Amino acid sequence: MKIALASDHAGFEIKEKVKNFLNEHKYQVVDFGTFSNDSFDYPDSAYPASKSVATADSDFGILICGTGTGMAITANKVTGIRAANCINVQMAEMARSHNNANILTMGSRLISPELALDIVKKFLETDFEGGRHSTRINKIHTLTGG
Ligand code: RB5
Repeated sequence: MKIALASDHAGFEIKEKVKNFLNEHKYQVVDFGTFSNDSFDYPDSAYPASKSVATADSDFGILICGTGTGMAITANKVTGIRAANCINVQMAEMARSHNNANILTMGSRLISPELALDIVKKFLETDFEGGRHSTRINKIHTLTGG
C-alpha cells in the first residue's frame, strides 16, 4: 500500500515520525515535503499529495499541519478527495468506516506524536463499511461535482 505524506513546518516532526512508522511496517511512502522546520505554506505540499491520491498513484494520504485544518481545506478542493481531520482514534475509525476517507489530516498543535501514530494505525487498518454509506458518499461527489 502506497501512502502520500505531506506537512508544513508545524507538522514536519510528526510527519517524520509517521514516515518512520510506515517504513517500519512495509508501507510504500511518497513524501511531498516539507523537509525542515523552516516556514512553509501548507498548500504547496497538500495539493500534490492530494493529487497523488486522486489519480490513484497513492492509496491514501496523511497530511499534517498545526491544526490539520489548512490541509483538510486544501485536500477537499481536489476532485475525488474525502479528507478527514481527526483528533482522536474514534474519528479516524469512523472517517474510514462511514466516510471512506482517503486522506487523513492531523494537527500537530492539538495532539501528541504518540496519539498521531495511534490515529494513523486505526485509519489504515479500518475498512469502509459500504452499504448505505456508499449512497451518501456518491451524493457528496455528484451533488458537489468535487
Ligand atoms: C501555521 O502557523 C498554521 O497556520 C498551519 O500549520 C495550519 O494550522 C493551518 O491550517
